Amino acid sequence: MPELDFPQRQSTDALMLTGFWYRALPADRVHRNQLYKATLLEIPLVVGRDRAGHPFALRDSCPHRGMPLNCGKFDGENLECSYHGWQFDVHDGQCQLIPSLTHDQTLKFDRIYAGSYPCEEQDGFIWVYIADPGPPGAGFAAPAEAPDAAPQIEKFSAKYKLAYLQAEMPVSIDHGIIGLMDPAHGPFVHQAWWWRSQHSIHEKQKNFEPIPGGFRMSAHTPSSNSAPYKLLRLYADADSITTTIDFVLPNIRTETIRAGKYWFSSLTTVTPVTRNQCRIDVVAAWNIFRWMPFGPELLKFVFAKFVEQDRRTMELQAEGLKHNPHLMLIDDADRPAKWYFQLKAAHLESKRTGREMKHPMDGPVTLKWRS
Ligand code: FES
Ligand SMILES: [Fe+2]
Repeated sequence: MPELDFPQRQSTDALMLTGFWYRALPADRVHRNQLYKATLLEIPLVVGRDRAGHPFALRDSCPHRGMPLNCGKFDGENLECSYHGWQFDVHDGQCQLIPSLTHDQTLKFDRIYAGSYPCEEQDGFIWVYIADPGPPGAGFAAPAEAPDAAPQIEKFSAKYKLAYLQAEMPVSIDHGIIGLMDPAHGPFVHQAWWWRSQHSIHEKQKNFEPIPGGFRMSAHTPSSNSAPYKLLRLYADADSITTTIDFVLPNIRTETIRAGKYWFSSLTTVTPVTRNQCRIDVVAAWNIFRWMPFGPELLKFVFAKFVEQDRRTMELQAEGLKHNPHLMLIDDADRPAKWYFQLKAAHLESKRTGREMKHPMDGPVTLKWRS
């Protein structure tokens, strides 16, 4: 008799990881010489672009008395707080002027900083690096340096199209992420006549392998019950289409589909806004359908439909989560979710001890489920 498998209790936490880049705002919504509000990991930010178009992000709180800096005046270079007129350089946050000081007062205001965050524009988004918090009581100092560049979408040709989609979900980052990597909800949540029906559910087997900070669903031929892939196969005229899906901490899912010279690449993030709210941003780049006038719209329509179905589901789920139910993760369908929690724990452990992160997977794994 086979050994019985008991479901495992698993609760999520709302812990948000610092020391990573996060998407703050779509780049096309951020205009020069203007100020915008954004929230990442419960940190209020004021985001903008200087006169030259370079993006910046500051903590939306004046270091003098906490006035939100987004209420201030911005001339494309310095931001002036609306309360007492202190001025700050928007890139490094350094205080430039305190209007109330008299000539003989020698306060070293160049040592005062509004908290500033490394900021980059990449693939249609303004990314902000959220560094680990400094020791308590240290106040704001010169900005932290990001150890690496903001994540990029992998592209396989010089010409391509780019589009993004965004949805807010009223659940914690953990629920947002495990909802994104969960293969078993497909037949129930993502039904559409042009896609698939509940009756097309069948057994699947996928290979996974560890990669630094995450895991990969190894290159495979996409599921036969998905219409867009069938379409793609016709259009691309390639006998083999392969797709690779990666997840890496803290919140990044990348998918690459290649069919001959055609490719489609996406980088999806689930961003913790607050403890109980996250935002999903899907940015896709592709060279398929570039000459078909309705191609991008079609693609966007399909994606928008999917994201909306997920958003609606999580909105309903949030109702159930209000009462703090016990939750569980089962094998094999929830194994990626288990890996996510293990990766997160291993990452935190390595930060605590200063030792190298111990990856929860020791080699390739094959998972089976029905979807
Ligand atoms: S609160 Fe900003 S200048 Fe005083
Ligand atoms: Fe989904």
